[in-house]
Amino acid sequence: MLRRLIIAIRGDPVSLLHRLGHNVSRSVPAICLINRTLYADCQRPLRNGKVGRLYSTSIQHPSLRDIAAEIKAGRITNVVIMAGAGISTPSGIPDFRTPGTGLYDNLSKYNLPYAEAIFDLDYFSGDPKPFFTLAKDLYHEGCYRPNIVHHFVRLLSDKDVLQKMYTQNIDGLERAAGIPEDKLVEAHGTFATATCQKCWKKYDGDDIKEAILQSEVPHCQHPSCNGVIKPDIVFFGEQLPGQFYNFVTELPLAQLLVVMGTSLEVHPFAGMASYVSRSVPRILFNKEVAGSFLHEPRPSDVILAGDIVASVEEFCRHLRWSKELHELMKRDTS
Ligand code: OAD
Repeated sequence: MLRRLIIAIRGDPVSLLHRLGHNVSRSVPAICLINRTLYADCQRPLRNGKVGRLYSTSIQHPSLRDIAAEIKAGRITNVVIMAGAGISTPSGIPDFRTPGTGLYDNLSKYNLPYAEAIFDLDYFSGDPKPFFTLAKDLYHEGCYRPNIVHHFVRLLSDKDVLQKMYTQNIDGLERAAGIPEDKLVEAHGTFATATCQKCWKKYDGDDIKEAILQSEVPHCQHPSCNGVIKPDIVFFGEQLPGQFYNFVTELPLAQLLVVMGTSLEVHPFAGMASYVSRSVPRILFNKEVAGSFLHEPRPSDVILAGDIVASVEEFCRHLRWSKELHELMKRDTS
């Protein structure tokens, strides 16, 4: 019965969970059940045309060099990336939670009742100005450019080993680095589109950009509406895009998970790191050890706790991709 349901609703696991009577955020056992069923089905073709095959590392405690060798030998071909604000700090964009420099420590000018209120839907309904002031900073065109970390993911895609990149970032630097749209899941939304909060009319991000740059709150153009238009960024209290929940079917097919620049504090995103098979290696590139790498470490985890640029450069040296990566960056920035 479960199997039939999965086939019927494949690609929309949330509906499946709802039909099974589970609330998504409290349904880990249900998701595990689905995962187990899908493991049995892992020989089916992936969307990128490759055949999914479970990868199991035979190396007890793999090193970064071992994993690079597996990629070079063509034994790892489906890499999933999970990224957070730490991948954009080398581009000059502050992250959220680093004490002192993180955004949440620097919001005093907005007089918010608590830092996360800037992304809280209820707070936004009462006072959208703090969010739009922040959005104006992010819109500063040409100010922020993708860095070596974004280009590394682009190179994975060019080499046809990127299965999917899941990012929490709303700065659009993944798109700017040329990571193809069909390989990108912007789990916390995007500024590329926007929605009127009253009549739900859809807008292009460019339609509201000018108002935001003029420090105005954008309003719906429909004559009888005048509601506030909100960029399609996922606020606390909102559902993540449906595409995000495809991780339930995609992560069991990953042969390597690379988690980069995230504190793994925000769910459901953070929980994804536990959905790859235990026999699949997981790499963490982050200043500090976080999330399930800290609380439920696995023998096949590889942790590089330090600066992300240095870690990515080290990985590329093992892959012998350094020259290519720098050429790609030069090409894209010239
Ligand atoms: P956080 O600020 O919580 O975490 C960023 C992580 O990156 C921290 O662990 C930093 O130590 C690390 N980091 C920063 N710079 C680094 C560097 N140069 N090298 C290595 N590590 C570095 O950001 P996220 O995990 O992305 O939600 O936060 C998740 C969500 O919380 C965000 O998407 C945002 C926020 O509320 C929305 O925007 C809706």
